[in-house]
Amino acid sequence: MRPHPRIAGFLGRALSHEFLAVQQYLVQSRLCGLWGWQDWAASFAKESREELEHAGLLSDHLLRIGIAPSAGTLRPSRPGRDLREMLEQDMAIEWSAVELYAEALDFSRRVRDEGVAQLFAHLLADEQGHLKHLQETINSLGGAEHGQ
Ligand SMILES: [Fe+2]
Ligand SMILES: [Fe+2]
Repeated sequence: MRPHPRIAGFLGRALSHEFLAVQQYLVQSRLCGLWGWQDWAASFAKESREELEHAGLLSDHLLRIGIAPSAGTLRPSRPGRDLREMLEQDMAIEWSAVELYAEALDFSRRVRDEGVAQLFAHLLADEQGHLKHLQETINSLGGAEHGQ
């Protein structure tokens, strides 16, 4: 079944968003590594892998419906200059993911595309989890600039 053109649009935006998140978390992980914060480097690397898995799930769906996955041109990542700024930049990215997936899920249900609705619901739940985790991490920082 050919997807609704707007569904193809949501999938393309989502793939681009996921690669942006992969890039941002990867750069943050490498920066923390350079600064000697190995625990934070590992934590950001784990986030990057989770976003890569999301890009993989979206790619699977695109391939199944006959569309070649392409993330297009990514906007520059904003890693932040210290740990708090990094986490705040990540909150901004996760918020935009939640908004995107909530809109995509609502639309896919309206056009009764159950397969893609399941995918968007899964991704929405994951991004809401990321947002919650980030909020808790920021709260736990207190006045400290980094938690090593
Ligand atoms: Fe994601
Ligand atoms: Fe995320």
